[in-house]
Amino acid sequence: MKCAEAGNMSNGRLSHLLRGVWLLGLLQAVFVAGTGSKLWEVPTTSFTSSSNHSESLQWEHDCQYRHLQDRVRITADIPPRLDGTWVSTRCEVRPGPEFLTRSYTFHPSRHFQALQHYYTDSGCEDPAYSLMIKGKLRLRQASWITQGATEAEHHLSKVGIVVHSLAAKQRLASRLPPACLGTTLGRVVPGKLYELYNTRAGRGCLVALGFSMLEMELIRVETQYHSHGGKVQELFLGDVHTDWTQRTQYRPTGYQHPLQHVMHHIHPCPVCALVYRSSEQRPPVLHRGPALSLSLEGHWVSQRCETRPNVLFLTREFTFNPDQHAWEGIYRHYSDPVCSQPTFTIKASGHYAQGNPSVKISGATEFVFKVTQVKVTAEEESTAKLLNGTRPGKCGRAGGWEVGLEQDVTPTAGCNLLGIKLPHKEYELFKTELDHRKHQLLFTGERPTDGSSPDRPQERQTSFQAPMMLCSIGETHASHGFNSMQVQLAASGTDRPVQFLLLMLGCMLFSWLCCF
Ligand SMILES: *[C@@H]1O[C@H](CO)[C@@H](O)[C@H](O)[C@H]1NC(C)=O
Ligand SMILES: *[C@@H]1O[C@H](CO)[C@@H](O)[C@H](O)[C@H]1NC(C)=O
Repeated sequence: MKCAEAGNMSNGRLSHLLRGVWLLGLLQAVFVAGTGSKLWEVPTTSFTSSSNHSESLQWEHDCQYRHLQDRVRITADIPPRLDGTWVSTRCEVRPGPEFLTRSYTFHPSRHFQALQHYYTDSGCEDPAYSLMIKGKLRLRQASWITQGATEAEHHLSKVGIVVHSLAAKQRLASRLPPACLGTTLGRVVPGKLYELYNTRAGRGCLVALGFSMLEMELIRVETQYHSHGGKVQELFLGDVHTDWTQRTQYRPTGYQHPLQHVMHHIHPCPVCALVYRSSEQRPPVLHRGPALSLSLEGHWVSQRCETRPNVLFLTREFTFNPDQHAWEGIYRHYSDPVCSQPTFTIKASGHYAQGNPSVKISGATEFVFKVTQVKVTAEEESTAKLLNGTRPGKCGRAGGWEVGLEQDVTPTAGCNLLGIKLPHKEYELFKTELDHRKHQLLFTGERPTDGSSPDRPQERQTSFQAPMMLCSIGETHASHGFNSMQVQLAASGTDRPVQFLLLMLGCMLFSWLCCF
């Protein structure tokens, strides 16, 4: 269903649809498609019709100092070109938490070799064990669910493990059945490669480790062309479920932090070099940068168009005022993976309290956020019509929605269609880091993959979203637009058959995503 058709429906019918079983059915269909395989047979954009699909845009951040150096054009080909080696650019944190670095090599023969190094600490300074993963990858088709991504099928042929210390061996002993290493764990020698899995063996040992390579099933490669002539290539692989019990079955719909191509990475990248030179016997040992005292003060912006699991494309913009413990967040939602087609904007504000340093992730800090006011702007016709069709008292002024007109939904205690309920509380985890140019980055907690909201302390996440960048300090109000983007859509296939569904899905999902 297309937006134009949606637009022709009466408001009454739309709200009926929204409330009705019809949408739930679709939601389920999409969720099932995300976990099973049967429903993947829905019509998809195949390679033949979109093999020359590329998108490009120029970001023009409103941060003055970035303005000149950061004119970037981005393209993303479907299917992606994967050849070469791709490496982590920092110590990565996965839900759990797990701390790791990755180095993945793809050969033209479609074979891949993936090295994963796991650590005991959040700075990746103390290697615990490394996994050497070999397999084969078959690219299938443009993703029907995550626009701009390619679906793939992977087959593992071998997974080997090298344990790096006696302490790590002890910790593994509590997770791995003894038979997994072909010998009793007591006899395992640090530095020696043991086979955990081959095509004749079952997956029990992999599952015990919480291991899966399902991340390979959703792929996007972005190439950034910088105005000074440089090129940076990033490989986005599927996200890892935030719930440990789901992670070995979860079919990704969002991405992890990207790996960068060893030939085309951002300079300087000391971590890239260390990871590239590593092997399963010699894991990279990273060096933690100087500890930053966490200060949220100022204005922070997304560095790119962000993708959330279950398909939400958005950019975020936060302003913090520590003196008043006040906070404002602007969430611009889009229907496409380069954030060129706005759908709706949410402006949330409220208060926050800084808590204790995180016990699970050293260097991170716990926060509690309270959202007390939310304003919503419909950025295009079909969203305006959807919001206009809500019942009086449920979402702002009924019948008062127009494209581009901001409405305060605080008097209606939120907006039931968007699932915003006020006041709202969230338990957060933040950390700050410096990037390669010594700019401050802010990492906020990853959203639970199941779409729930971390509104209880035990639901606080243990991993992070894509970092935001500090734009300016001391700016108290974020009234200026963040992305005055100049979009050059070179895409031939701008036809988005599922856009409307995704929009509605996005709206419904927002009910569990709320604000961050
Ligand atoms: C893709 O399309 C552009 C313009 O439509 C064309 O110039 C380019 O040669 C095409 N590339 C391929 C690989 O077909
Ligand atoms: C919203 O509803 C009002 C009253 O029914 C109507 O006048 C207005 O045109 C509608 N706006 C949109 C964008 O549909």
